[in-house]
Amino acid sequence: NKNSLGLPIGTTLDRFIKKKQDEFEFATGELSQLLRDIALAGKIINREVNKSGLLDITGAYGSKNVQGEDQQKLDVIANIRFIRALRNGGQVCAVVSEEDEEIVHLNPHCRYIVAIDPLDGSSNIDVNVSIGTIFSIYRRTSPIGGPVTEKDILQPGTEQVAAGYILYGSSTMLVYTTGHGVNGFTLEPSLGEFVLSHTNMTCPEDGEIYSINEGSFHQFDKSIQDYTNWCKDQGMTARYIGSLVADYHRNMLKGGVYLYPNTKKAREGKLRLLYECNALAFIAEQAGGMATNGSKRILEIAPTTFHQRTPFYIGSKNMVEKVVEFVAEKA
Ligand code: AHG
Ligand code: MN
Ligand code: MN
Ligand code: MN
Repeated sequence: NKNSLGLPIGTTLDRFIKKKQDEFEFATGELSQLLRDIALAGKIINREVNKSGLLDITGAYGSKNVQGEDQQKLDVIANIRFIRALRNGGQVCAVVSEEDEEIVHLNPHCRYIVAIDPLDGSSNIDVNVSIGTIFSIYRRTSPIGGPVTEKDILQPGTEQVAAGYILYGSSTMLVYTTGHGVNGFTLEPSLGEFVLSHTNMTCPEDGEIYSINEGSFHQFDKSIQDYTNWCKDQGMTARYIGSLVADYHRNMLKGGVYLYPNTKKAREGKLRLLYECNALAFIAEQAGGMATNGSKRILEIAPTTFHQRTPFYIGSKNMVEKVVEFVAEKA
């Protein structure tokens, strides 16, 4: 199997990355180092998340982020930890984050740009429910050594070099793609190592699960109301954690569709194109799934602002296509 390169379950992430670098992907080793830095940040955040109930790091931080959301202490901590790991790792010229209004400039002599949702699923932190981290990696388009520009950041998702997520769930997993399939690694806590557990992950083309916050039903467009009613007529199963990473991960493994439509309150939906949607869309497509805003492939949306939002439908291919049919009919 070309994707897993014949590496057995039990291979550590470090060895997996090294092997890929040697065989075909990352000639210079810079991207390999960057992926290792992200894994390290994930382990550090995992440690904080794991014992958050014991430390004074649950609850609100007392400020709002640029999204207008109340930041949780762990949102802020994860953002700091992540950016510090990327700064120390020395492969990144700039970071954009859900939690920072402006570009965070790191080493201008580096090639890579990272977009992050440091902690996804904030409302689940304090109640010991799965949360995550989402990341996208891009190559800058401006010359190395000079200042990073807005244009470097506002690239469509098709330009991602790699993307992934870390899920702090019943076990902690790192799932990523560099455009050659999707592989998943489970954190072995006693070793402190991510170990290959899911090779060449694929998403079933069909499924039984639909995931949407139906409490907002009266705020949906008629097309989405009709779609959710159709799901019920089909006898489908509703599952909604409220942590995008966890909802996406379950649906990718089991077959399902996740929906976050535009609502009366959130005209563009809630989820952020750069920090949440692009990374998961890249992974979904690599796994044989699909991601759209209802009329356009997520990866082809040209961003105009860092923090822009988009309606988001992602998961099993045939299920997402069904959503698109409903959206198109009412248009
Ligand atoms: P974040 O915690 O990074 O701000 O993201 C929250 C997102 C996402 O994780 C989740 O799917 C969605 O918000 C849930 O929103 P609702 O509570 O509106 O359903
Ligand atoms: Mn948030
Ligand atoms: Mn999020
Ligand atoms: Mn977040």
